[in-house]
Amino acid sequence: MVCAQKFSASCENTTNAHLTHSGIFLVTPSYSLIPAQNRQRLSVAPMMDWTDRHCRYLHRLLSGQSLLYTEMVTTGALLHGDVQRHLRFNAEEHAVALQLGGSEPADLAHCARLGQEWGYDEINLNCGCPSPRVQRGAFGACLMNEATLVADGVKAMCDVVSIPVTVKHRIGIDKIESYDFVRDFVGTVAQAGCSTFIVHARNAWLQGLSPKENREIPPLRYELVYQLKKDFPLLTIAINGGITTNAQVAEHLQHVDGVMVGREAYYNPWLMQSWDADFFGAPVSTLTRELVEEAMVVYMERAFAEDGCPWYAIARHMLGLHHGQRGGRMWRQVWSNHKLKPLPAREVWQIARAALDKGAAHA
Ligand SMILES: Cc1cc2nc3c(=O)[nH]c(=O)nc-3n(C[C@H](O)[C@H](O)[C@H](O)COP(=O)(O)O)c2cc1C
Repeated sequence: MVCAQKFSASCENTTNAHLTHSGIFLVTPSYSLIPAQNRQRLSVAPMMDWTDRHCRYLHRLLSGQSLLYTEMVTTGALLHGDVQRHLRFNAEEHAVALQLGGSEPADLAHCARLGQEWGYDEINLNCGCPSPRVQRGAFGACLMNEATLVADGVKAMCDVVSIPVTVKHRIGIDKIESYDFVRDFVGTVAQAGCSTFIVHARNAWLQGLSPKENREIPPLRYELVYQLKKDFPLLTIAINGGITTNAQVAEHLQHVDGVMVGREAYYNPWLMQSWDADFFGAPVSTLTRELVEEAMVVYMERAFAEDGCPWYAIARHMLGLHHGQRGGRMWRQVWSNHKLKPLPAREVWQIARAALDKGAAHA
């Protein structure tokens, strides 16, 4: 039995309390009551194939107050596909933003409305993805060339939802280095009703780089994002790209309203454990990795009972939990061992615990 952990009640508007599992008690602020500029203070980036509902469940255990994003869901997938599969999420995940990929204003409006009906706290439009598939669909990063179309899409969404509509984008595309490009993009889209921009601080090169290379090779230019905040002081500007430590988060928060962390939160989720205390004024958390792991096992059992979801579809997201720790490699090997798939999660957990102890003893 996990002992009760009371998460922060730092914010006066803390109204959503729920007993999540095994006695871990999460208290998260009601999103609609948080001032807009604080909602984006810290978030975990949308990451395709990674930030599914299971991953977000893990991240929410670690930080009650940061904002979590879905993977990008295309308007086509929602218009022609299985809406429940794409939009269902756990109540504990709030605050959670639905990221849409698309460009047709009427389609975006339809999908934004769906997102609101399903209970999402924010709709975000992807204007930063450079993948060839997305380019063929004429959305993602190439939309930065079409600020007016993005503005039309934002307006169409704002007209039909009451939750915030936000945009995630790059600082430029291809070899466009000038600050004016991103400034004009933000200015045009802001006029349509978007007041929050999450800026991946590197260009997207639409030719010749894979999506992975496009997250690594174009240089980071944080100063352009800081300049956006200076030029648009009333907008909420969050920065993203290459941020891997909480010291870096704190430094960026001197210049902008928010920080979005992607890969580091996935590979090293324990980074998030101090976020509520460090960045939201919450009491220092007494959470341990062991508590998180146990809570995840309870969640795996629940997901299996609900719809037969196998534990390894969930465990894959927590393989970084013991990142950098003695015994962590052996622990990870257990949770990713295909031969253990037929066992129930609870048994795998016991094997993993033993492996961690053994690995730590031999390290
Ligand atoms: C596996 C993976 C999938 C991604 N999928 C998306 C996506 O669906 N939508 C999006 O806007 N960005 C996506 N991104 C980009 C991230 O949101 C983020 O902008 C990028 O990783 C830079 O942040 P970081 O350096 O903190 O990881 C993805 C990144 C990764 C690593």
